[in-house]
Amino acid sequence: MRTGCVIAKSPANRLPMHHFVYRDNELYCEDVPIQKIAQKIGTPFYLYSYATLIRHFTAFDQAFTDVARLVCYSAKANASLAILKLMKNLGSGLDIVSGGELYRGLKAGFPADRIVYSGVGKRIDEIDYALNSGVLMFNVESLEELKLIDKRAGFLNCKAPVAIRVNPDVDPKTHPYISTGLRKNKFGIDTVSALEGYKVAKTLKHIEIVGIDCHIGSQITEVQPFTDALKSLKSLISELVSLGIEIKFLDMGGGLGITYEDETPPQLSEYARAIVDLLEGTSLHLILEPGRVIVGNAGILVTRALYRKFGGTKNFIIVDAGMNDLMRPALYQAYHAIQPVVMSDQEELVADVVGPICETSDFLAQDRRITDVKNGDLLAVMSAGAYGFAMASNYCSRPKVAEVMVSGDQFHIIRERQRYEDLIDGESVPSFFSNTGK
Ligand code: LLP
Repeated sequence: MRTGCVIAKSPANRLPMHHFVYRDNELYCEDVPIQKIAQKIGTPFYLYSYATLIRHFTAFDQAFTDVARLVCYSAKANASLAILKLMKNLGSGLDIVSGGELYRGLKAGFPADRIVYSGVGKRIDEIDYALNSGVLMFNVESLEELKLIDKRAGFLNCKAPVAIRVNPDVDPKTHPYISTGLRKNKFGIDTVSALEGYKVAKTLKHIEIVGIDCHIGSQITEVQPFTDALKSLKSLISELVSLGIEIKFLDMGGGLGITYEDETPPQLSEYARAIVDLLEGTSLHLILEPGRVIVGNAGILVTRALYRKFGGTKNFIIVDAGMNDLMRPALYQAYHAIQPVVMSDQEELVADVVGPICETSDFLAQDRRITDVKNGDLLAVMSAGAYGFAMASNYCSRPKVAEVMVSGDQFHIIRERQRYEDLIDGESVPSFFSNTGK
């Protein structure tokens, strides 16, 4: 049984995973017993460790001390205001993909000139918002977008700083839904067309070429796809230089994987070294957009067992968190470890851990060997800090859950649980209903 250790170690001494550890058979987040939070605020809720977040950001940033860099935390992984604010306080920049993320980022206090704006489908109003805010650069994903940005910058009487997002056609060897750097993916512009794109960009009056960008996918557990992509970008940069096009920022995107089950992603030092070595002799300013590796193992989802059903071909443990709260298992068959908040002497069994939603894909785990629970027991769904709350929905009119952050022996509700009233906020019934006589 795990007791008393301070930090949960990841395999092969990689990035220390988190501060969720057992003490006397009870799971703590830093110095707070998780059970205590559940008693106070009910379940389900997301729970983040402040110390883990700091440790992860700092370790990531420090791995690149040898080069001029800007780490832009990727808001999509978890855009809750307190998390963004913490990243900003740690000196991070921000990677955004929407006007909403820009709004959140500015609210959290990020200076606009530390914000990079990616995304295949930027709307006019979002482009204008980013231009008016003065973002560091637009990562442009199509020629049509480039021309629109030029037009809007002209209209707003400014110059738009751009990078072209290159699709280097490398296989990140990850889940097909989260691989983005293959030619068949909708993201970026292939290398040949990117060169043409830069030539066009050079002629546009309201465009200032400042960088080059790629993001090849997420939950990548090998270094080679990153180095392959970087080599491809570097050869493109040489061609650009010969055309008199200067590149200042090289944005490598995010994508570094974490350990959910038994994956062995590269050590941070290995990942950083591979990138830094390839930058030697250049004066490029490196930008990185990590999301999952910062927040993934810094957060968990705490849920309560409601019922059990045995027999038939399966055993089911029915809990109060569903696919609307944590969508990853339903969407990608993603694995999240599930641990008891208080260890017990119950037998082990193989069961599906399922939520209350009327979909067969509403599971948190399938055919999982797990310690049996009694109704009312608390379970911790691990590694849920990234793409957990961020992808939550109100499906089945389920209020979004609360989010809590722990630091030392204190905890703070960083987001209140939604109330039923919040579910109908902004809705209205058309006045013409009254004409129907009903
Ligand atoms: N930059 C760009 C342009 C991205 O599209 C992404 C993620 C990132 C950075 C951050 O990637 P990370 O370091 O977190 O791997 N919902 C999926 C993941 C989708 C990732 C989308 N893009 C999941 O739950 O696994």
